[in-house]
Amino acid sequence: MSRPGTVDVVEGRTRLRVPDTFSSGGPGKRIGHVFFNSQMAFNRDISVMFLRAHPVRSALDAMAGTGARAVRWAVEVDGVDVTANDRDPEAAEFIRDNIELNGVEARCRSSNEDLRCMLARKAFDLIDLDPFGSPVHFLPAAVQAVKRRGILVVTATDTAPLAGTYPKKCLRRYGALSVRSPFGHETGLRILIGHIMREAAKEDRGARCLLSFYADHYFRIYLQMEEGGAAADRCLSQMGHVEYDPITCRISYGTERTSRSAGPLWLGPLHDAGTLEAMVASDDLAEAARCRKYLDLWRSEIDTPFFYENDELSSILGISPPRMGPLLERLNEVGRASRTHFSPTAIKTDLPLEEVLAAYREVSGRGMKV
Ligand SMILES: C[S@@+](CC[C@H](N)C(=O)[O-])C[C@H]1O[C@@H](n2cnc3c(N)ncnc32)[C@H](O)[C@@H]1O
Repeated sequence: MSRPGTVDVVEGRTRLRVPDTFSSGGPGKRIGHVFFNSQMAFNRDISVMFLRAHPVRSALDAMAGTGARAVRWAVEVDGVDVTANDRDPEAAEFIRDNIELNGVEARCRSSNEDLRCMLARKAFDLIDLDPFGSPVHFLPAAVQAVKRRGILVVTATDTAPLAGTYPKKCLRRYGALSVRSPFGHETGLRILIGHIMREAAKEDRGARCLLSFYADHYFRIYLQMEEGGAAADRCLSQMGHVEYDPITCRISYGTERTSRSAGPLWLGPLHDAGTLEAMVASDDLAEAARCRKYLDLWRSEIDTPFFYENDELSSILGISPPRMGPLLERLNEVGRASRTHFSPTAIKTDLPLEEVLAAYREVSGRGMKV
């Protein structure tokens, strides 16, 4: 029997008891008391796919809300021992209900404390942080409590500071300047990764990005910890800055900081090919089609930082935007190019701007010369 003010929904293979006034879009508001956003089903699907591909023994959903993610792990992933924690006592009630509703008492326990207290005592193979807004307040505790070579998963919904709308706020929170540009979301994601790398370095740890992405209204990062000062130094050596010139569309990145650059930020890979290969968007997920689409995009995305928006480049050339297919084909004849999950109308390429513009002109039928 569901309690008054609650409703039962099904997500993936899991039945979930949630507040009957839950959010279904945007960053989500806490309506009533306990938070649940049905739009985050995709985000939870990805975590199920990830855990199936990358098994761990112990996993902590550190800010579990209703326990939706944690209970889905317990139901839909084999062999993982799950802890669902939330400091809100009302949330803990939902977590207990959802554990019971799905009969996963043997594999999932509820916990009701401030995650920083909990992480001072316990370590986990995987820790998932899903806060309202910025994760910065919780990163030091999480970086210390994730086990050797463990997995740290982080959501951030404060995309506006990170992507350049509030650069001063970004500087205060992340110790990095954000700048508005057509690739602001990638800049934001890389500032967040860079910040986590610097937190890890304080503990003589590095990390490898297994998967990191932007979707809907949030950033999400899956990192595997690497141990030792040398690993930390390797990661710090992949930090840098990026500058964008809106007149010429030129993107310059490297170790140099300039008066107009964003950073420091991560310039290393966003994904690990082996991890993406092992992930399967099976039909039992809540949003299997969307998962398949994103997996394909991430797998094909080339490992070059930042991207060009099709209409930005076309407008400086005074031509109408060429079709993406023929453009990518031409760019791949002379270098490497791909679509990007950050924007359906943008391309990533390792070619210099001059060659990209030449391809634009050629595909638009204006001849080869720039
Ligand atoms: C965005 S919601 C989590 C949503 C949930 N992960 C899901 O998928 O539905 C953030 C949650 O963090 C909890 N929270 C905030 N600060 C916390 C802290 N210091 N320790 C533990 N939980 C905390 C809040 O009570 C809230 O339920």
